[in-house]
Amino acid sequence: MTTQPRLKLALIGLGRLGAIRARILAFQQPRIELVAACDTKPGADEWAASNLPPSVKFFDDPEDCMKNSGAEAVLISTATATHAPLILNALDLGLHVMCEKPISVDVITTEEVVAKAASKPHLKFLVPFCRRYDDSYRQVKQMVVDGSLGEIHAVESSCIDQQDPTGFFVKFSEQSGGIFVDMGVHDIDIGRYYLDVKSGLTNPKKQVNRVVAMGQQAVYGELAQYGDCDNGWALVEFANGKILTFHLGRTLTNGFEGMTRVCGTKAHSVINANSTVNRVEVRDSHGVRTATTPDAFVLYDKSFIKDLEEFATAILDGGSLTCAPEDAYEAAKIATALQYSFRNGVPVYFDDNGLPIMEDAKARA
Ligand SMILES: NC(=O)c1ccc[n+]([C@@H]2O[C@H](COP(=O)([O-])OP(=O)(O)OC[C@H]3O[C@@H](n4cnc5c(N)ncnc54)[C@H](O)[C@@H]3O)[C@@H](O)[C@H]2O)c1
Repeated sequence: MTTQPRLKLALIGLGRLGAIRARILAFQQPRIELVAACDTKPGADEWAASNLPPSVKFFDDPEDCMKNSGAEAVLISTATATHAPLILNALDLGLHVMCEKPISVDVITTEEVVAKAASKPHLKFLVPFCRRYDDSYRQVKQMVVDGSLGEIHAVESSCIDQQDPTGFFVKFSEQSGGIFVDMGVHDIDIGRYYLDVKSGLTNPKKQVNRVVAMGQQAVYGELAQYGDCDNGWALVEFANGKILTFHLGRTLTNGFEGMTRVCGTKAHSVINANSTVNRVEVRDSHGVRTATTPDAFVLYDKSFIKDLEEFATAILDGGSLTCAPEDAYEAAKIATALQYSFRNGVPVYFDDNGLPIMEDAKARA
């Protein structure tokens, strides 16, 4: 019996998401060997020692980890503001890179990272947008491709987190780039995935005409200091006339809801219209009740198994990747433009080079 080669991978970042990634990497990826885990926060070594196999080396310095763990690839699951420097470092060290979205909170840095990745075509670079790895979203993509929904002219979505009494995301907002960049990038990506935004263009560089965003601090007034909101609405007009609209929120009291409606000329398809966590109903004096999916994290297990499998296969066997670096870049331009639109109360138009026209792409309002 021959042993299949395994990809030696180091995980950097053991936070909320990194902990899920670590478990999947250590126990649910036959083609990946988790050789190291790294986090800079105190106590992360103890977490790694009690949750990961003893063969996984712990590092508290990411560069040390990349250089000395024996990894051929890294998964970067750290705070957003650290992604770009870590990706650049890893690519310079000749490592394949998978990184959580978004690459950066600003377009210029995102562009630099995508250009660096393109300059090293022998290295794989994946920013996996999790909905593209979810079975329901994939099934609808198949319907879009086979034409059964007709011409897809619009996508409407909503993504609303459960209200968090600790206000965790208020602090999180300081580094996340704001709700349109942090959360909206998923809705933008899924809109782009279904809307065939590269078809029918007179200028292939320009995929978007204009965007406009509005928002409120309905519950968490403190978000205003970071130019952020707890409920935001976005309207995106693509250059081929297709429309994406979405509502983002952090204030739902029953749980997490993330719904997508794909509008075709023959039919609409709606994903996750019902946010119940299972099929159990309680029928009592209050009526018929179900439990809501508590948060988006419980949905990640299946898609995280698939994106890691795809990344390993791409490196080991030369398979293709569902998300191209260009997808992360195009989504970043739209997300940043929306955040700017909300902060400044203006629509943002895109120029003939496909860039959002903002006074300073790195500026905060
Ligand atoms: N569906 C998705 O794709 C999805 C969902 C949630 C979060 N995310 C993204 O994943 C990333 C992590 O999110 P989270 O909720 O786990 O954040 P988190 O704050 O819970 O965890 C981040 C971890 O990174 C560590 N860290 C920070 N800088 C580091 C460095 N330079 N080197 C090593 N470790 C470092 C921190 O100590 C912390 O443990 C964010 O960029 C977020 O946008 C993606």
